[in-house]
Amino acid sequence: MILVTGGAGFIGANFVLDWLRTSDEPVVNLDALTYAGNLENLASLQGDPRHIFVQGDICDRALIDRLFAEHRPRAIVHFAAESHVDRSIHGPGDFVRTNVNGTFTLLEAARGHWMSLEGEAKGGFRFHHVSTDEVYGSLGPNDPAFTETKTYEPNSPYSASKAASDHLVRAWHHTYGLPVTTSNCSNNYGPYHFPEKLIPLMIANALAGKPLPVYGDGMQIRDWLFVTDHCSAIRAILAKGTPGEVYNVGGWNEKPNIEIVNTLCALLDELKPDPAGSYRRLITYVTDRPGHDRRYAIDARKIERELGWRPAETFDTGIRKTVEWYLANQNWVAHVQSGAYRDWVEKNYAGRE
Ligand code: NAD
Ligand code: TYD
Repeated sequence: MILVTGGAGFIGANFVLDWLRTSDEPVVNLDALTYAGNLENLASLQGDPRHIFVQGDICDRALIDRLFAEHRPRAIVHFAAESHVDRSIHGPGDFVRTNVNGTFTLLEAARGHWMSLEGEAKGGFRFHHVSTDEVYGSLGPNDPAFTETKTYEPNSPYSASKAASDHLVRAWHHTYGLPVTTSNCSNNYGPYHFPEKLIPLMIANALAGKPLPVYGDGMQIRDWLFVTDHCSAIRAILAKGTPGEVYNVGGWNEKPNIEIVNTLCALLDELKPDPAGSYRRLITYVTDRPGHDRRYAIDARKIERELGWRPAETFDTGIRKTVEWYLANQNWVAHVQSGAYRDWVEKNYAGRE
């Protein structure tokens, strides 16, 4: 079996669902259920003996040791993190705790377990660390896309904490020989995306007739990858990746934010027209995010060349599926927009003009 951390969050839940759709290998899913973790994402697995959910913290060494001893996973796929740049600006402490100390704790527990293994079990063990393209910093308009050898230049508390975790993972391989792999992926989108990130926030606000807050001039560029393509990339790395290697994962879809927002408005105008007029009327430019990175772009040729992975979705097919999913799952959105969600929206947007 495999141990997944953060499997009740956006990408982790998609990964667990995808894993159990494509394999019968059981999953132990360790998640603290912070504001971002939601067992409703995994509702379709209720009663499925292949999914063992454990509520707990990746900083809890005793708990992780117990999970390793009890379940003896052949691999760990580490998603658990604080993941929202805007939250990291308001409160960086949790990011250092979970992303740095939590990854350290997992590495130490995994090392202890791995050292106790022998033969094939030891050789085949993997620690896969899920990271982000944001560790590489911000690109100018004509700079080449990030390759795996790009220097690290993290600019936000979020990306700095992820960069620190990447360095720990690298060092545990170099120093102790722990068989690790790391993936640095661009912005994901798709089902179960928490509606405080750009795409689901814009869909939820548009449907509620609320302003669509575009930071600064809206010309910041991100590369976008449909979440199930990220899941298939991680599966490919687990199956065929080389220990110690880093793989950049991206969708070959660089888009300015304002184009994303316009595309969402056009899809909603088609799929759920508003008698008040196009959703575009709700677009509102607001004060920029401090330290906002201008452009991210991923060169994903290494994973294609070495592991034969390419995204299956184009942006057009993925974004349509995403909007359709949100329209069909309005209850899910309503449930996650709890009191805590409303507090966050007030904290992040009230001070912006
Ligand atoms: P998310 O915020 O939706 O989910 C994070 C999950 O981790 C939640 O279920 C949360 O409860 C859990 N968690 C948080 N702290 C924990 C702790 N101390 N112990 C145990 N569980 C804890 O995040 P996501 O968007 O699904 O991202 C998952 C991973 O992928 C992160 O490591 C992130 O850095 C990375 N990543 C995300 C993106 C993206 O676009 N979302 C892109 C590239 C990489
Ligand atoms: P986000 O989804 O927070 O991902 P990240 O910052 O990790 O790339 O934001 C994506 C882009 O959208 C980023 O450039 C910030 C911008 N953005 C807005 O313009 N308005 C918003 O309300 C949010 C949440 C993000």
